Amino acid sequence: MFIQRAPLRVLALLVISLGARVSAQNLTDDQISLVKARLAQGATHSWELGTRAQALVELDTPTFSVYNASVPPPRTAPSSLNETLAIAQSIVANRSASNHNATGPQPLIQDGAAADPASNIFEVVLANWTGLSDHDYAGAAKDQVDFLFDKVPKTSDGAISHRADQLQLWSDFVYMVPPTLAYYGVITGNQSMVQFAYNQVKLYRNYLIDTHANNLWKHVLMGSFNDTGHWSTGNGWAAAGMLRVAATIQNSPFSSALKNQHKDLLNWAHEIHGGMYRHLDTNTSLFHNYADNPSTFLDASSTAILAASVYRLANMGGPRTHIPQAELSRKALSSTNSSGAFVHFDAQGWLTPVVNPDSYGSEGSKSPEGQAFVLQMHAAWQDWVALGEKGAFTCASL
Ligand SMILES: *[C@@H]1O[C@H](CO)[C@@H](O)[C@H](O)[C@H]1NC(C)=O
Ligand SMILES: *[C@@H]1O[C@H](CO)[C@@H](O)[C@H](O)[C@H]1NC(C)=O
Ligand SMILES: *[C@@H]1O[C@H](CO)[C@@H](O)[C@H](O)[C@H]1NC(C)=O
Ligand SMILES: *[C@@H]1O[C@H](CO)[C@@H](O)[C@H](O)[C@H]1NC(C)=O
Ligand SMILES: *[C@@H]1O[C@H](CO)[C@@H](O)[C@H](O)[C@H]1NC(C)=O
Ligand SMILES: *[C@@H]1O[C@H](CO)[C@@H](O)[C@H](O)[C@H]1NC(C)=O
Ligand SMILES: *[C@@H]1O[C@H](CO)[C@@H](O)[C@H](O)[C@H]1NC(C)=O
Ligand SMILES: *[C@@H]1O[C@H](CO)[C@@H](O)[C@H](O)[C@H]1NC(C)=O
Ligand SMILES: *[C@@H]1O[C@H](CO)[C@@H](O)[C@H](O)[C@H]1NC(C)=O
Ligand SMILES: *[C@@H]1O[C@H](CO)[C@@H](O)[C@H](O)[C@H]1NC(C)=O
Repeated sequence: MFIQRAPLRVLALLVISLGARVSAQNLTDDQISLVKARLAQGATHSWELGTRAQALVELDTPTFSVYNASVPPPRTAPSSLNETLAIAQSIVANRSASNHNATGPQPLIQDGAAADPASNIFEVVLANWTGLSDHDYAGAAKDQVDFLFDKVPKTSDGAISHRADQLQLWSDFVYMVPPTLAYYGVITGNQSMVQFAYNQVKLYRNYLIDTHANNLWKHVLMGSFNDTGHWSTGNGWAAAGMLRVAATIQNSPFSSALKNQHKDLLNWAHEIHGGMYRHLDTNTSLFHNYADNPSTFLDASSTAILAASVYRLANMGGPRTHIPQAELSRKALSSTNSSGAFVHFDAQGWLTPVVNPDSYGSEGSKSPEGQAFVLQMHAAWQDWVALGEKGAFTCASL
């Protein structure tokens, strides 16, 4: 028994190192540029613009990312922030056209969703903070916040609807609204706004958590239809949104006043990981579109945002339990075949396979949000490497 064990172990190591030589483990700078270019080309919907703005900051300007630097950030914008500020500029320049010259509370972009346009509060607030003065950025951000407070339906206990025309809760909300409200709160020196953002996460968790499914979140409740399945991307939006709120608190002047809220947010993100990672497909290291329904297609998009959130949680001092699985997913998404072509990207740089961002039950071919998630995974992984790769699976455990 003991005698046979050693050669087997050597063999296993040989197989692993041979595998590593054939297949890449990390996305190259060229591939990241390609992914970014497709994101720039594809992002048109309100939530895609907000997610793109966030992904670009995390990747290119860590000194302005809530994960990496103090909030508020410096007042002077480095040129790496240009693309992000350009998103704010085009949204605010077009705001009157989009809202038919409305005045007062209004979304940044006219949209059926109440929450999605609010994802852009982040870069609009940044434009104001760094002194861009060709438009009234502060006024546009305030109108969007007032719109959420005054014009959007709410549950009796105060959860803001994801939709504008009816009361309906979507897990996606947790990425679109609480992180940007928390950011707005810190920039305007309003602790109660940051607390409000935390409360929204707490309310959404109460409604959407499925304690009969290891705490996975349901996707859509209330209103004219629902989706009680455990949509993987929705669980990813929720975990990543919680961590942005937590990081905003952690790096703000309110960190000690809100330390219990910060702790809850890390626990709740970890709770989602606990529900999700037991369902990671072992052959591919990808999630199915509905995590606990293996008859649904495999989805690289949710796989990327969840891996990003696992690295972020670890980088913020939270549990590292799921780092080995995030590493498996990241390596799978970075792999190449024997002719050197990326397995999970087409030649143009589009991630595959992905859920259709406009039809959450169907497989699509081009997902701008999926492109952003890859950049976020890469940025979070780079930070994790810089912090010493804590929690990695090592050869010692073979
Ligand atoms: C991937 O990046 C990590 C961290 O920089 C490095 O340790 C590893 O050797 C790289 N792997 C490959 C196959 O280049
Ligand atoms: C933030 O990013 C800078 C530049 O990349 C790096 O030097 C610093 O260590 C990072 N800080 C944290 C807290 O991650
Ligand atoms: C960013 O914008 C500033 C000010 O408009 C400009 O001076 C700078 O050249 C731009 N940088 C890049 C990389 O486009
Ligand atoms: C500006 O808003 C109008 C009206 O909603 C819309 O048709 C157009 O596509 C928008 N343009 C940009 C650049 O966002
Ligand atoms: C908005 O105002 C502009 C300038 O006053 C005007 O040309 C345009 O027709 C107005 N648009 C709408 C939809 O009212
Ligand atoms: C806009 O920036 C100023 C600082 O120049 C800050 O005092 C104010 O709170 C900001 N407003 C918003 C809505 O972000
Ligand atoms: C601070 O945030 C609260 C929401 O929590 C809001 O009601 C209040 O108006 C804000 N205060 C200021 C000065 O904007
Ligand atoms: C979901 O919608 C169906 C059909 O409208 C309804 O019967 C059911 O009660 C709803 N479920 C939940 C959890 O809201
Ligand atoms: C995973 O691999 C096993 C063994 O090769 C195979 O039987 C199974 O069908 C695969 N599952 C999927 C989802 O590809
Ligand atoms: C690798 O992938 C590329 C792109 O899908 C394909 O054209 C090529 O045939 C593949 N090579 C092998 C050896 O499978």
